Amino acid sequence: MYNEINLDNIDLRQEPPLEEPARQYYFMAECRQYTKRFFEENGRLPSASVHTFGCQMNARDSEKLIGILEKIGYEMTEDEHAELVLYNTCTVRDNANQKVYGRLGFLNTIKKKNPHMKIALCGCMMQEPSVVEKLQKSYRFVDLVFGTHNIYKFAELLASSLESDRMIIDIWKETDKIVEELPADRKFFFKSGVNIMYGCNNFCSYCIVPYVRGRERSRKPEDILQEIRRLVQDGVVEVMLLGQNVNSYGKNLEHPISFAELLQEVEKIEGLERIRFMTSHPKDLSDELIEVMKNSEKICRHMHLPLQSGSSRLLKIMNRRYTKEQYLALVEKLRNAIPDISLTTDIIVGFPGETEEDFRETLDVVRKVRYDSAFTFIYSKRTGTPAAVMENQVPEDVVKERFDRLLQKVQEISKRTSSRFEGQTMPVLVEQVNEQDSRLLTGRLSNNLLVHFPGTENLIGKIIDVKLEESKGFYYMGSYK
Ligand code: SAH
Ligand code: SF4
Ligand code: F3S
Repeated sequence: MYNEINLDNIDLRQEPPLEEPARQYYFMAECRQYTKRFFEENGRLPSASVHTFGCQMNARDSEKLIGILEKIGYEMTEDEHAELVLYNTCTVRDNANQKVYGRLGFLNTIKKKNPHMKIALCGCMMQEPSVVEKLQKSYRFVDLVFGTHNIYKFAELLASSLESDRMIIDIWKETDKIVEELPADRKFFFKSGVNIMYGCNNFCSYCIVPYVRGRERSRKPEDILQEIRRLVQDGVVEVMLLGQNVNSYGKNLEHPISFAELLQEVEKIEGLERIRFMTSHPKDLSDELIEVMKNSEKICRHMHLPLQSGSSRLLKIMNRRYTKEQYLALVEKLRNAIPDISLTTDIIVGFPGETEEDFRETLDVVRKVRYDSAFTFIYSKRTGTPAAVMENQVPEDVVKERFDRLLQKVQEISKRTSSRFEGQTMPVLVEQVNEQDSRLLTGRLSNNLLVHFPGTENLIGKIIDVKLEESKGFYYMGSYK
């Protein structure tokens, strides 16, 4: 197994191998020379700080980047006063970009005091040519820039950067490559995200993801199952299968397999207790999947089913390929098969051309579905997407007013919906000591709701029965005997 390779056994007098991932392990060994030298000179290891700005897939990428850095010998820290600071960026909405530019200004002041510090940027935002141009022009203090397709090359790029004072930029437009067997570090020892596919082919007209993440590519089922088996051996009890549209998993593999079939294989893995997945596109959600979920003991009672809009007219312009009626029928099918399922969603307010009538259709779906929770977003114009050049952009004050109305409705409903298990005792995966009150633990129900209850740290990572004493709207207070 590559993961167990001892970097000290790699002969750096030889040329770097051409095949992957061997090539990256060679460069990890090269970077390790630097961390060793640093230790000899400073009496401590160099520190590195990785920050995630985006979605679960972005977070999983960060775990891989951290895995590489740890293998090289960096000491990980949250603090941005570090020898290496890496921002893993997101560009799904403009505020994600603005956050990065703001924080870069702050990093520049730190770097002025520590000129040897390296600043690296990667992730979705770097796939936009206009961003890279701006960095080249106005952010010369950045040392390394790479994108989403060549993230596996991080060790190689870092090795070049450690030897150079130039700004190194390596962005690929596309890739069909999936490199397996690189190290990864997990934020939680008992749960992990697992990529099952990369990219997206859907081109929803508002969305930049297909442009920055490339075309849909599924990992081979053997590779996924192997990774999960190893994770389970390593103490993981819950996996989250990740993809922009997991319901279309496997369609383009040499030996096609459906997402539902993959789930059944994952279910068989002994020692694995819980399976989650994200995200499900309503257009591809099959009856087969519902059936598999219904009969499963491990698949969690939760479905994140992004709505985006309740107006069939807008859904068409958004290129979502379902109507309001089809969405509602799907919800009914899910609820009939799995009555205790929790539903959550994403909604966009202020898509170009959205009328009061369209917006009311969205409110209507929210009322009918009674989501456990919903992420609500103000439409953000993304250059390069079809929606960005649509003429009838909705004025800001109108959007703001609708957004507030939606949020109020969503909160009112989710407060009532998510309290429906009050008084019951349910299995909970204990995740951490409560951040506000250290006498409490925080755990997650199968349906994804959180519960806080008195308990001791040794329960972290275990699945235990907790009584849901009182609903607080979006979470429960509970007790454990
Ligand atoms: N693949 C997932 C979504 C990934 S992006 C899916 O199809 O459901 C996460 C969410 O960001 C989307 O569901 C959408 O609600 C929101 N989003 C995407 N582009 C946006 C934009 N331009 N403005 C506002 N919200 C957007
Ligand atoms: Fe974006 Fe649509 Fe793909 Fe989701 S399915 S990532 S919203 S294009
Ligand atoms: Fe953002 Fe990229 Fe995820 S744009 S939402 S980090 S796929």
